[in-house]
Amino acid sequence: MVEQFDVVDLIRAKRDKGVLSTAQINWLIDAYTRGYVADEQMAAMTMAIFLNGMEREEIRDLTLAMIASGETLSFEGLGKPTTDKHSTGGVGDKITLPLAPLVASFGVAVPQLSGRGLGHTGGTLDKLESIPGWRANLSNEEFMAQLKSVGAVVCAAGSGLAPADGKLYALRDITGTVEAIPLIASSIMSKKIAEGTAALVLDVKFGSGAFMQDPARSRELAETMVRIGKDAGVKTVALLSNMNVPLGLAIGNANEVRESVEVLAGGGPADVVELTVALAREMLALAGQPDADVEAALKDGRAMDSWRAMISAQGGEPDAPLPVARESQVVTAERDGVLTTQHALPFGVAAWRLGAGRARKEDPVDHAAGIDLHAKPGDTVTKGQPLFTMRTSDAARFDRAVEALAGSYAIGDPGSPIDDGGPLIAGRVD
Ligand code: URA
Repeated sequence: MVEQFDVVDLIRAKRDKGVLSTAQINWLIDAYTRGYVADEQMAAMTMAIFLNGMEREEIRDLTLAMIASGETLSFEGLGKPTTDKHSTGGVGDKITLPLAPLVASFGVAVPQLSGRGLGHTGGTLDKLESIPGWRANLSNEEFMAQLKSVGAVVCAAGSGLAPADGKLYALRDITGTVEAIPLIASSIMSKKIAEGTAALVLDVKFGSGAFMQDPARSRELAETMVRIGKDAGVKTVALLSNMNVPLGLAIGNANEVRESVEVLAGGGPADVVELTVALAREMLALAGQPDADVEAALKDGRAMDSWRAMISAQGGEPDAPLPVARESQVVTAERDGVLTTQHALPFGVAAWRLGAGRARKEDPVDHAAGIDLHAKPGDTVTKGQPLFTMRTSDAARFDRAVEALAGSYAIGDPGSPIDDGGPLIAGRVD
């Protein structure tokens, strides 16, 4: 086979701030997937992209080339609109759990192909796997049948979607090139577009517990992803949401399922409800139901019925007791006052160290491990009152969790400014 381009020419072009053509990008991604372009050459290219960026057309071409590296799904013939959501990840972010069945209760299909957690942000599959019997791996036939009958499916993404992204992401991870907006945006959007959804709502987080901490950078990421979606014919909207403090009161796996069920029963913490409702409204508007009464479906049991059907369809027992940790340690307020600070990142790291997350892909997670918060920034607290409870199956883990939490929360005098980074939803991009 005669190769169409010389990869060194392409690397030099990007190094010197040039623009790659559609043909060059198509060839590069194909040749890398085939193994013709070596990892060290692609590493040089990703670093050049990291340093010099990409034009809109290049980002679109890169996304389309990664989609073309694998299979694509199609929901034509399903008989209902499809809409999906993607979050860039955060501490206590369990929103997919109440959101997918809530949206499905309006007759809309939600095909959620999800991943497992790595690092301090938990994976949706890990959370759902704390439900006895629930299984993440579905065949294509099971996936389509459940989309038709229940509407909501949360399951493991097969390796067939955008395999070039899988290879490239692993390379970026070990070469310091993850945080490049063109690469993040094309990576996320290639998988979502290959999945075949007609509409997509993005929850792009900023703040201490988010992957992208600076609000301006997270807006740029959101704008880039919305443009890619539109260029590919997928109706795409993004909300920018605040991840300076943990979302809700539960950080972990089983405890996040418990909190999600509270939301589906019409209760739950105000911030989890607010974000769930806002994202559901966006998803339903894109699916042609701008006036859907989302709150009513949470209050009257329709969303809960949809959750039970979704869990049962994947072998889960919605009424079975969730795992409970053997060991717990309560941290109390050392003075009267108001809780002024609760930084998301250290709480995420502490939950991870308690066993709720994994450091390597092959590690198991402790479904019962995590942290339950008993107070949020702005709450009045009295000396001795529990602030949070840490839970784990292995008491030896408490010390390192406590270490991670040093300086991560503070109690001030009544009237002190609250350090929560502002409103939960800080913007919208369409
Ligand atoms: N998630 C992805 O799927 N890709 C990235 O590049 C970053 C986060």
